[in-house]
Amino acid sequence: MSAPLILALETSCDETAVAVIEGVTRLRSSVIASQAELHAAYGGVVPEVASRNHLAQVRGVVGQALEEAGVELSRIGAFAGTTGPGLASALLVGASAAKGLALAAEKPFLAVNHVEGHLLSPFFGSEEVPPCIGLVVSGGHTLLVDVESAGHYRLLGRTLDDAAGEAFDKVAKLLGLGYPGGPEIEAVARGGCAERFALPRSMQCSGDHNFSFSGLKTAVRYLLPQTAPADRADLCAGFQEAVVDVLVGKTVRAARARRRKLVAVSGGVGGNARLRERLAAEAAHCGLEVRFAEPWLCADNAAMIAYVAALHWRAGRTSPLGQDIVPTLGQDLFANA
Ligand code: KG4
Ligand code: ZN
Repeated sequence: MSAPLILALETSCDETAVAVIEGVTRLRSSVIASQAELHAAYGGVVPEVASRNHLAQVRGVVGQALEEAGVELSRIGAFAGTTGPGLASALLVGASAAKGLALAAEKPFLAVNHVEGHLLSPFFGSEEVPPCIGLVVSGGHTLLVDVESAGHYRLLGRTLDDAAGEAFDKVAKLLGLGYPGGPEIEAVARGGCAERFALPRSMQCSGDHNFSFSGLKTAVRYLLPQTAPADRADLCAGFQEAVVDVLVGKTVRAARARRRKLVAVSGGVGGNARLRERLAAEAAHCGLEVRFAEPWLCADNAAMIAYVAALHWRAGRTSPLGQDIVPTLGQDLFANA
């Protein structure tokens, strides 16, 4: 007999994503319908545009995920949906679809935290989650988490203002680059000199595990009138290096403080090549091991949600159909430290 199948939906931001997983480790399908082009015209995600588009897409994406998995809907043993954090109107679409499917099929429903999806994505494909320090760097979050095992997390620190990805997006907008800003800045930075402009490394020596990126964004804004279009590569390289410096320094510091030997990096910014290169080098220097989420798992997707759902289901945890969405990070995720 094959392992049980879970169908998971993810609609917390601007991707309508559905995945089917068999057991904990065997991904049967992962489909992502991105709305990035729709939002590019606005330079950021417009919540109502996102939720309307999720509604239009969700049925087709579920169908495609089942087809690519080669399974009938009736063979799905449980349905999972991201219930937060994210845009409320967007979350409602995927979470409600997952609950509706579970209700109609009389199968369990599993509410999954989007941040947990990112956090565990470096271990996607593994039966177990080892103790580590998790660095989650996305458009909505910048977190350092002490991971004991799946389901047992202690929040060490978070951004006090902008998330790292948000800073990339805002600086890209200031520089007239496209959305999402991270990959655009990374590409322009390749030809630049990171030392040319002196940019702040906020809170690098704050003594805690928190971050702040809004001052860096403001510093770029003040520099702009004094620069020419030809300076853009240097500005991008300098900005990227400042973000990377802080992320690397604070992650290594957290690993030392918690005596962890492994660091796990996830989220959209986790795909940044300079961050991966610098963290890998620093970790090797300090005797730490680093696991990066694979690039296809860094951006939002439903495979990471399915993986978390599978781990929870195996541990005997399911969620009531009445479980509401929670748009903010909240503290529930860290209640079982
Ligand atoms: O994880 P994600 O897809 O969505 C959220 O949960 O937020 O992350 C998206 C964020 C955006 O802010 C985007 O600009 C950033 O990740 N990002 C990057 C890179 N690729 C995506 N930032 C820096 N370098 C990249 N290569
Ligand atoms: Zn995300």
